[in-house]
Amino acid sequence: MKKKNKTVLITGPTSGIGLELTHLFAQDNINLILASRNKKLLLKIQNDILKKYNIIVNVYPVDLSKSGSARKLYNFCIRKKIIVDYLVNNAGFGKYGLFTQTSLNTELDMIHLNITSLTELTKLFGLKMKKRGFGKILNIASTASFQPGPFMSVYSATKNYVLSFSEAIAEEFRGSGVSVTTLCPGPTISGFQKRAGFKDDAKMYNSLAIVDSKQVAQFGYNKMMSNHRLVIFGLINRLSILIVKFLPSSFKTYLVKKVYNYYH
Ligand SMILES: NC(=O)c1ccc[n+]([C@@H]2O[C@H](COP(=O)([O-])OP(=O)(O)OC[C@H]3O[C@@H](n4cnc5c(N)ncnc54)[C@H](OP(=O)(O)O)[C@@H]3O)[C@@H](O)[C@H]2O)c1
Repeated sequence: MKKKNKTVLITGPTSGIGLELTHLFAQDNINLILASRNKKLLLKIQNDILKKYNIIVNVYPVDLSKSGSARKLYNFCIRKKIIVDYLVNNAGFGKYGLFTQTSLNTELDMIHLNITSLTELTKLFGLKMKKRGFGKILNIASTASFQPGPFMSVYSATKNYVLSFSEAIAEEFRGSGVSVTTLCPGPTISGFQKRAGFKDDAKMYNSLAIVDSKQVAQFGYNKMMSNHRLVIFGLINRLSILIVKFLPSSFKTYLVKKVYNYYH
């Protein structure tokens, strides 16, 4: 009897790290449910994947920064009787700027997408996974998770939540057959910088630490598949997180402000 393919739900599969992850799952014959806002792009990606791989691809256009959207996505999977074996909470964005000058609505949307929807999807699908005794969850945090981020204050705080939440539930799921991997990328070339408001010629693009989305996705994919809990991409990122750990809080926050200011 032919073995049934597994299925992954990926949020934010239309660009950057999420798009690369989408191809990695497809290559391994894992069926896809792809969810983000841009319907045209989702349909294009669905078409591209179907031409290359013999898998099932469902797309669900949704704005996960809006209340009730994660539940609608979950209900879509239930209606279609799809068992989600892997969940990738990748969709997210940040915004550069002084807190007194940035838009509150943008920040509330960011909190909803980066925190609320991620939590809701993890709860709804995590419960099902636990009942079945199998599942893998990949939550995308950031190197920004490890310290406060002046000029990216709300974004850094949302990613701090992702890190803390994901590590805690990874421990709760211990022995249940469900793994939770937290991936912390550093600066990665993707649609992120443009949306965050970084300049086209920002110094960040010449930074030694910047990498492309493909490398980050491959790393995260491998670590998720081997049930790692907390993974930070790149030696420079790992070293800087280690150093920052030993610095007094106010000094490290001042340093981060200088770094963001310089690289913007
Ligand atoms: N790039 C970096 O330097 C970096 C560093 C650390 C962590 N990260 C994290 O990595 C993850 C992936 O980001 P990326 O760098 O690959 O950025 P990206 O290229 O901008 O991709 C973001 C993805 O999220 C989707 N998305 C954005 N807003 C959404 C919404 N409201 N509802 C549903 N989907 C939404 C986008 O699709 P639509 O536009 O179609 O909605 C897109 O597919 C994010 O969580 C980000 O915080 C990035």
